[in-house]
Amino acid sequence: METIISSEQLTYLDGLRNETDPLILEMEDYAGKHRIPILDWKAAEFLEQLIMAQRPDRVLEIGTAIGYSSIRIARKLRKRGILHTIEVSKDNIPLAKSNIEKAHLEEKIKIIDGDALEIMPGLKKKYDFIFLDADKEDYEKLLEMSLVLLRKRGVIFVDNLLWKGFTAAKTVPKKFQNSTEHIREFNKKFMSHPELKSSILPIGDGIGLGVKVK
Ligand SMILES: C[S@@+](CC[C@H](N)C(=O)[O-])C[C@H]1O[C@@H](n2cnc3c(N)ncnc32)[C@H](O)[C@@H]1O
Repeated sequence: METIISSEQLTYLDGLRNETDPLILEMEDYAGKHRIPILDWKAAEFLEQLIMAQRPDRVLEIGTAIGYSSIRIARKLRKRGILHTIEVSKDNIPLAKSNIEKAHLEEKIKIIDGDALEIMPGLKKKYDFIFLDADKEDYEKLLEMSLVLLRKRGVIFVDNLLWKGFTAAKTVPKKFQNSTEHIREFNKKFMSHPELKSSILPIGDGIGLGVKVK
């Protein structure tokens, strides 16, 4: 089991896609060939729609990888909007920088180099929108840190909550058992968190969407 909807439905949705942007297609191709996980294109489109509707001034992303979702977010920000994106991998940061330069978004995207668990407690100014997409084992801690930094009525968007179908599966391959357990625990907390109005949506690999209610 590797996808959360059937391959027939995926093929159908892929057939409706009309992406022509060469940089977006190049990054998807690079990520696929080098097995770097990036946001599924359908989830990326949904993320862009939320950015367009909410019009956040300050966005925080946790997990930049090669800058795919960073670029997609930054392109939909209004003129004064900025994105801060935290990345711990020394291999990924130069790739993200190069893609951000190709997209001419150096003014809109600031990469913060380091571990989000160490960096976030030092961030002081609130964010309007936070995208959490880091190691699944750290999701619970990163959620609590995110909620400190998210303003009231701000939005948190979390990737991989249906985790290739494993969170709902009776049997899980050994390699995914630990991460699946972490996401299952995370999902219970996310859906019952007193500071959030939350949903888990079957888009991409499962998107958690929360609005901070207090
Ligand atoms: C799924 S990828 C991010 C994909 C990216 N958001 C996209 O859709 O284009 C996860 C990234 O998070 C980074 N990461 C994992 N744990 C982290 C942490 N604690 N702090 C900062 N980055 C982290 C990994 O190095 C990896 O590049």
